[in-house]
Amino acid sequence: MKAAVFHGPHQPLTIENVDIDKPIGREVLVRTVASGVCHSDLHFVDGFYPFPTPAILGHEAAGIVEEVGLQVSEFKPGDHVIACLSVFCGHCDYCLTGRTHLCQTRPVRAKTDPPKLSWKGQPVNQFANLSAYAEQMLVHENALVKIDDSMPLDRAALIGCGVTTGVGAVLNTARIEAGSTVAVFGAGGVGLAAVQGARIAGARMIIAVDTVESKLAKAKELGATHGVNAKADDPVKQIRAMTNGGVDYSFECIGLKVAAEQCFDCIRPGGTATVVGMIPVGQKIELDGPAALHRAVPAGPAHARRDDHAPGQARGRQRGVPGHEGGRGLAHRPDARVASWSPPVWIDASC
Ligand SMILES: NC(=O)c1ccc[n+]([C@@H]2O[C@H](COP(=O)([O-])OP(=O)(O)OC[C@H]3O[C@@H](n4cnc5c(N)ncnc54)[C@H](O)[C@@H]3O)[C@@H](O)[C@H]2O)c1
Ligand SMILES: [Zn+2]
Ligand SMILES: [Zn+2]
Repeated sequence: MKAAVFHGPHQPLTIENVDIDKPIGREVLVRTVASGVCHSDLHFVDGFYPFPTPAILGHEAAGIVEEVGLQVSEFKPGDHVIACLSVFCGHCDYCLTGRTHLCQTRPVRAKTDPPKLSWKGQPVNQFANLSAYAEQMLVHENALVKIDDSMPLDRAALIGCGVTTGVGAVLNTARIEAGSTVAVFGAGGVGLAAVQGARIAGARMIIAVDTVESKLAKAKELGATHGVNAKADDPVKQIRAMTNGGVDYSFECIGLKVAAEQCFDCIRPGGTATVVGMIPVGQKIELDGPAALHRAVPAGPAHARRDDHAPGQARGRQRGVPGHEGGRGLAHRPDARVASWSPPVWIDASC
């Protein structure tokens, strides 16, 4: 099959003929129909995060099942599926307590098995257990969600990462209340989904922050009530002025230290900042100590669970993660919520 091979940071991907193995056990071979370009893929190309090479990137995909391993029961050839990078084992402590996105023993092939992907006779690393920049993906069945055949696959692919991340950050991680005020930093794939999540949750004011006017216009089309151009003036100053002191909830959907700090600075006392963007490895986020007494510490990305299928369809709430609320020295402040970092969120189970 043809695939875009990643050779290392700052190098172009090249289209190569890569061999893909047959599915064994609970694996499924999927014909990739659509794959988004999430900025997380680009962070690896830019060298902000390490990954062994050669590899095939891509993790926001949808396709059609071509072949299944002998132990696969939930899928059959012809099924339309969304691929999810948070493949889970189903029996570790996290999985058994409903937090499959935190699974610590994600199913991978045994070292004694042949490699899933190989190029010129050498193994190729599978990114995010998916490697979606390829004509086919060989994945564990717990990395797939079956969808209706009528759903266009190019749009379904976006649910594999950006949509679920942004909507999930608002509905599951921050759990905003109807009537709240919200600021979303970055109006790209994830940020626009966060804007829509805030709209679904009934936020009364949704401020999109970006440096590109066309992105702000798109955010308004999708539910933002206001746009702030971070290039025009300090976005924190602008947001504070618009909200009479700051927003209840803010979301960093860019992956920048400065934006993460602004995300924290623009919330009002009792507010919660959620950092979704992938801040480069080694970079520290600086917060003002006294301000942290009155505001929540920036949180990790959204938490998904089996019953969070798609925007507007979230059923019920994520159970509180131990230490999620009230910990880290803020326990005396019932109005402050502290969340812990967690790995990226994506739909993490089959329907
Ligand atoms: N934690 C997770 O679960 C998870 C999942 C997906 C993506 N991510 C991360 O989320 C971030 C966003 O991903 P994306 O695919 O939406 O990216 P994107 O490139 O589509 O969007 C980023 C947006 O930020 C804007 N921007 C850039 N610099 C800015 C600045 N200084 N101020 C305001 N806006 C600015 C850009 O114009 C763009 O619209 C990335 O860091 C990505 O790695 C995290
Ligand atoms: Zn992604
Ligand atoms: Zn597990």
